[in-house]
Amino acid sequence: MTHQLTQKERMLLSDQLSHEEICIQKYSGYAEKAKDPAVRNMFNQFAREEQNHYNMLNQFLGGQMSGEQGSQVQQGGQAGKAGSLQGSGFTLNFGESQVQGRYVAGDQAKADQQDSSMLQDMLMTEKYVSGTYDTAIFETVNPTIRQSLQHIQEDEQKHGEAIAKYMKEHGMYQVQQ
Ligand SMILES: [Fe+2]
Ligand SMILES: [Fe+2]
Repeated sequence: MTHQLTQKERMLLSDQLSHEEICIQKYSGYAEKAKDPAVRNMFNQFAREEQNHYNMLNQFLGGQMSGEQGSQVQQGGQAGKAGSLQGSGFTLNFGESQVQGRYVAGDQAKADQQDSSMLQDMLMTEKYVSGTYDTAIFETVNPTIRQSLQHIQEDEQKHGEAIAKYMKEHGMYQVQQ
């Protein structure tokens, strides 16, 4: 299908495409590191959904970026705007705030702490991405694309909801959101 995109639409869709790429990269990488199988499953599932978003956006852009599948994204420390993960201490920096959950002695506590940091990072990432979809939706003239972006945004909000639910149920410390 071919769409005549405005310059603005093209720019915003490209932005969202790169956001989705980061989401795929983060969820896939974090799924490997997660200690709780439930977290691992959730991250793997969301990685697949982000890949669907990526494919959809790519299609709207005319497919000219199809060579850059998310799975080929380079893994690295500079994963995204939301924060960076470093070392075994798992300190996450988000601008002025630093995420540090409860600290209890033992391996289990350390595993919880690592999962908690990753969940917190993804919650913030989802919130950011959902916000940028707001702008994209408002600026999109094409009704088909607009509706698809609304569906994608709904998915992002569901991702955030599921992560927050898990964190709440597991008594994980939450910083400002
Ligand atoms: Fe997404
Ligand atoms: Fe998402």
